Amino acid sequence: MSTHDTYTIPAGPDDYLVPMAGDARFTWEYDGGRARLLALYQKGKDKQWDAQSRIDWTLDLQHDNPLGIPEHFNELMGSRTWDRVSADPALKTELYRHQAGWQISQFLHGEQGAMICSARIVESVPGLDAKFYAATQTMDEARHVETYAKLLQDKIKLAYPISSPLQQLLDETLRDSRWDMPYLGMQVLIEGLALAAFGLLRDMTTDPLVRAVTAYVMQDEARHVAFGRLSLKDAYAQLSTKEREEREEFVVEACYLMRDRFLKREIWERLDYDVEDCVDAIEHSASGVMFRNLLFTRIVPCIKDIGLWGEKVQEAYADMGVLDYAGTNLDGLMAADEATAEQIDAEKRLNDARLAEVDQAIAVGAAG
Ligand SMILES: [Fe+2]
Ligand SMILES: [Fe+2]
Repeated sequence: MSTHDTYTIPAGPDDYLVPMAGDARFTWEYDGGRARLLALYQKGKDKQWDAQSRIDWTLDLQHDNPLGIPEHFNELMGSRTWDRVSADPALKTELYRHQAGWQISQFLHGEQGAMICSARIVESVPGLDAKFYAATQTMDEARHVETYAKLLQDKIKLAYPISSPLQQLLDETLRDSRWDMPYLGMQVLIEGLALAAFGLLRDMTTDPLVRAVTAYVMQDEARHVAFGRLSLKDAYAQLSTKEREEREEFVVEACYLMRDRFLKREIWERLDYDVEDCVDAIEHSASGVMFRNLLFTRIVPCIKDIGLWGEKVQEAYADMGVLDYAGTNLDGLMAADEATAEQIDAEKRLNDARLAEVDQAIAVGAAG
């Protein structure tokens, strides 16, 4: 089935074109490289996996709550719309299905953006060590597109077009001729925000398929954010004040844009809800504010770490209420992301072994 048949609002024509600027860059130095980048490249190679075999695609999602998110986490909680919709099981199912379709669609479009940006980084970044790493990331992102496309097309069957703030940020990132901009836009900002959104979903969902998909993707994404940090930290130490300020302005503008992405106006308009009532719940309810702030847990410490920590950035983060995340331990979070994915693998192995034992017992019984 064409994905276009599942878009609940038209996604526009295929072949969306973004003109790119800047140089493809070769190097004739094949020796050496930065040890930490090469170690990350080795890890990228060692941790490749196959979405077809690692994930149990025989699992189905619940029709009335595909992402398995407990009711008390619903972002509309406390609004007049929620009171009306949650009283009617058919309306409530419709809401949950649209929220799931929107969320996984945005993850999917973002992953395609990441695949294109990481391929762009292979072309433009100086140094073979960074080109090597970006090449493994391009493969990781292809796998993420494959995984979310399968989840959306085979299981959820309801898609949304890319949200305009995400499209705008991707466009700006790709149109820029400076080699570091795809890193800053994609590796640090879009990936950092996606990683936090994945983390919230992984930790809230009660559904085993959604949890496994998210945890496996996160295991790779943690390396991608580390790649952005390592590369930019070196490069940004050499910037002039003017160059640094330009990047800081981009960060501030992009962070406000990314925050607005999660107001999800497209869903409320599509369902003919009272849009302002829904947006108000997300912007002002205690859980809405907490949720949107949590999206910045991974971005803020990374921006500080790469040295884009001027006054304007700090003021913007204080205004958004996320400045305190500057102290988050990113390496600790990354280690925890890996441990969670490995734990899910271990649970699956145990489950597969149990099923094999049952099969064997049935076969013995049938033979007897
Ligand atoms: Fe990804
Ligand atoms: Fe990524």
